[in-house]
Amino acid sequence: MALPSADYRNAMARLGAAVTIVTTDGSAGLHGLTVSAVCSISDNPATLLVCINRASRGYAAVRENGVLCVNVLGPGHADLSTRFASATAHIDERFSDPNLWMKMASGCPRLRDATVCLDCKVDRVLDVGTHGMFICEATDVLLGSECSGLVYFNRGFYGVINSKTKLAQTGLAWLVPALRLRISRSAIRERGK
Ligand SMILES: Cc1cc2nc3c(=O)[nH]c(=O)nc-3n(C[C@H](O)[C@H](O)[C@H](O)COP(=O)(O)O)c2cc1C
Repeated sequence: MALPSADYRNAMARLGAAVTIVTTDGSAGLHGLTVSAVCSISDNPATLLVCINRASRGYAAVRENGVLCVNVLGPGHADLSTRFASATAHIDERFSDPNLWMKMASGCPRLRDATVCLDCKVDRVLDVGTHGMFICEATDVLLGSECSGLVYFNRGFYGVINSKTKLAQTGLAWLVPALRLRISRSAIRERGK
């Protein structure tokens, strides 16, 4: 008997995933949507997988344009991600702030302060159930100056930030060596039990 989709969705909600905005542009026009189903397949050639619901407008746009940019989001992008996930938001509304966006070589928009942007060419599309699996070759990457992340877990957003950076921002960076010492001391105590 097939697993009920609600049970499957509840299970997958507990699999935390990085949040991205996938953008595309070309003959089908400009588009962008929030996507968390992105994963690496291979580093040679640089290949990644992007899964997009076949009922979404983004699926048809990416399929026809044949190019996309994966913009990996940071902790400050939760509202932007919600805007790019809104079914009612027109594409102009999603890209309403032109200062946020630049272009990759493919012509796809890239988010200026993304954690990383991967410009991609679609190599193959496999339709499985409700989704299309876009197997893409990464043609260029741009690393952002901030290395922090946004994770969707249990239907909520969580910021991922290096503890060193966080403490430096609060002026408490001196605590890091002290904390490390504390952690290793308690680990040694545990092991010695
Ligand atoms: C955190 C988050 C992650 C999402 N991940 C995906 C995903 O991996 N694939 C997908 O097709 N839709 C995903 N969505 C839903 C789409 O963003 C949403 O359906 C959007 O309205 C589609 O827009 P479109 O129809 O204009 O293309 C996600 C939404 C959120 C909030």
